Amino acid sequence: MNNSIGQEIRELLKLHNAVLLAHNYMRDEVQEIADITGDSLALSMEAAKTKADVIVFCGVHFMAESAAILSPDKKVLLPRPDAGCPMADMVTVEELEALKAKHPGVPVVTYVNSSAEIKAHSDICCTSANALRVVRSLTEDELIFVPDRNLGRWVARFVPEKRFVFWEGFCPTHERMTVEAVQRKKSEHPDALFICHPESAPEVSALADHVCSTSGMYDYCRASSARKFIVGTEAGILYKLRLENPGKEFILASPALICPNMKLTSLEDVLYSLQTMSPVVTVTEETRVKARQALDRMLAVPR
Ligand code: 13P
Ligand code: SF4
Repeated sequence: MNNSIGQEIRELLKLHNAVLLAHNYMRDEVQEIADITGDSLALSMEAAKTKADVIVFCGVHFMAESAAILSPDKKVLLPRPDAGCPMADMVTVEELEALKAKHPGVPVVTYVNSSAEIKAHSDICCTSANALRVVRSLTEDELIFVPDRNLGRWVARFVPEKRFVFWEGFCPTHERMTVEAVQRKKSEHPDALFICHPESAPEVSALADHVCSTSGMYDYCRASSARKFIVGTEAGILYKLRLENPGKEFILASPALICPNMKLTSLEDVLYSLQTMSPVVTVTEETRVKARQALDRMLAVPR
């Protein structure tokens, strides 16, 4: 850790009774200083229950919005307000409403990688860690899944009894991981297991020994007796995988697995955010109340 900046951050966190949450894709030094690191589900759960007055969210905009929806009495800071998610921007409320009008009465399952507005027009949210459980919790036999076509199609494989209407959104970072790149790594490391995120293209997921959320990868690699893993998700995951598993080797499946938005937040940004108590992420009350219902329904699905 850069000691002096790290100390200043820790002191300001204490002064403001603030908690520092960081997604598993953040830069190493940001993960190192965070109070809690995790996947989207773990971070939403933490945002819903923390006793802190301020949440400093090191992630992208939709994550900070979810924290603001779940903790309206807290100040939510996003050190880099320009950290967005291209997948979240791939569906608008007008487009979603037009799709709903074509499928009246069909519930909308929305991946948390979406705007607060989209969540407010949805029935239930999901993350990559609980998407299958969320879909199985629905009594209806048809559902609309937005915005990630890859996560949607991956879940659909396990519930052939349900009909899915997919939105064709995707994560540009995961879609840059090609079959050729993975095959190359597999032939270079024939003794390695290949794990990937369900945001990956279906033909890439088909090559995997295990498909799971980022926190699912920590659990899987910790428990596995294998010594070598080819990792098919954003490069930030490697920091804790290597820290937690000193005797194991982790190889990034493709050099293209870097999300520019997740790499924006620096320690300097975190410090500046705490010094200025900005930028604050807010959601209008009308949107917040409706989006909260969709998030609460998700959080109520048994783990
Ligand atoms: P998870 O950490 O929930 O698997 O999310 C992946 C992701 O792409 C977040 O932007
Ligand atoms: Fe969005 Fe993909 Fe980046 Fe996650 S990794 S923030 S889904 S672009």
